[in-house]
Amino acid sequence: MNRMQRATLGGKLSAVLVAAGSSVGLGNIWRFPYVAGNNGGGAFLAIYILCVLLLGLPLMIAEFTVGRATHRNAVGAYRTLDPRWSILGYNGVLAAFLILGFYFVVSGWTAEYMVHSVTGELGRLGSAEAYAAMFENFIRNPWRPLLYTSLFVLATHFVIALGVQKGIERSAKVLMPLLFIILVALAVHSLLMPGSSEGLRFFLQPDFSKVTPATLLVALGQAFFSLSIGIGTMVTYAAYFKPDTDLRRTALNVTILDTLVALLAGIVIFPAVFSVGIAPSAGPPLVFVTLPGIFNDMPWSMVWSSVFFLLLIVAALTSTISLHEVITAYLHEEWHLNRRAAAWTTTASTLALSALASLSLGVLNDWRIGGLDLFDSLDYLTANILLPVGGFFTCIFVGWCMERKSLRAQITNDGRLPFHIERLFYFLLRYICPAILLIVFLDNLGLFKK
Ligand code: PFF
Repeated sequence: MNRMQRATLGGKLSAVLVAAGSSVGLGNIWRFPYVAGNNGGGAFLAIYILCVLLLGLPLMIAEFTVGRATHRNAVGAYRTLDPRWSILGYNGVLAAFLILGFYFVVSGWTAEYMVHSVTGELGRLGSAEAYAAMFENFIRNPWRPLLYTSLFVLATHFVIALGVQKGIERSAKVLMPLLFIILVALAVHSLLMPGSSEGLRFFLQPDFSKVTPATLLVALGQAFFSLSIGIGTMVTYAAYFKPDTDLRRTALNVTILDTLVALLAGIVIFPAVFSVGIAPSAGPPLVFVTLPGIFNDMPWSMVWSSVFFLLLIVAALTSTISLHEVITAYLHEEWHLNRRAAAWTTTASTLALSALASLSLGVLNDWRIGGLDLFDSLDYLTANILLPVGGFFTCIFVGWCMERKSLRAQITNDGRLPFHIERLFYFLLRYICPAILLIVFLDNLGLFKK
């Protein structure tokens, strides 16, 4: 591995912490509730959990093994193992770039909401309609979201460039449990709101008559997005893991944590959505319209909402850092740019893309790609196409092409750990995961329609 990169990231990383930092983010708290709301609630949740267990967990272990076996960036890792497979790394670098294009924009929104909380502006409005109008006004404004997005991009850049990863690691240790506690408190509050049981039923009671092929693809994509897999992020991070890190346990812990946060977010949002009469299918604005209403209802609302949005900013930041690192590590190692130049190239190009994505919600809304504005099309293309495609080929590569001996050596730490589920793991990776991914894709292309 490259010495400079190792220095920047602070040497050996605390595996669970950084991997969970990447996984837990806006995907859990902003994206999960809105896609669950768009796709029927309970049935979506059931399918989502199945996707996490059957596909997400084995794939995360698979990505970890590739990263730690090679100690390289996503492209270099696959190239080292088999040059024909470096394309899988390129798919990841492209996906990371496109995800940052819209992720930075939403991160900017959370920053703006924190400022509004601190100034008390968020507490002054009364109704769900007023919050919806405020949100629309804000995202259509050509300047303000751009300003907050740029600030967020720069914050990510400086964490990467200054090598304050250790600081982020340490603060994440405190801030992530705090985020969890606040979510639990919000969930309790939400459940006590009048009419909340309807929302809880919507979220937890599956109604499979609402499931369409698209639901399956969206659930799959959300699972990959939320766990940060199919894109080489976990490959890139595992390159920095210690030799004695237990890859299975790390993957299991991260998966459980990530799923719990998403579940909690659903329990916060849906009871409140039904209680105040917002449509659960309101799309990307859902959380930004619902949360301020919940806070307003609580004592010391300003404190709650300021702390919550601050924690959301940290959660988003640990995810943007991981995405930025995928591109920076690639440019640094493959293009031989020095770390600084690699980081600046990533920052400048993702800033340009996210500026366009932000404007596509307002003045550039007429630009359409397949009927969607740029913001939505980046979201759709990455989560529903690039990540599942990356996941499919990762299964094929690790399941069928990677030497079994070296895979086993990684998972068992050279024979020091047991690998009781080896056969199950291989069975999932070789047959079940690729088959599910293929069927869901073909189904969405309409191949099974009568
Ligand atoms: N998993 C992050 C979230 O849920 O917010 C988003 C993300 C990070 C996706 C890193 C993909 C990735 F490689």
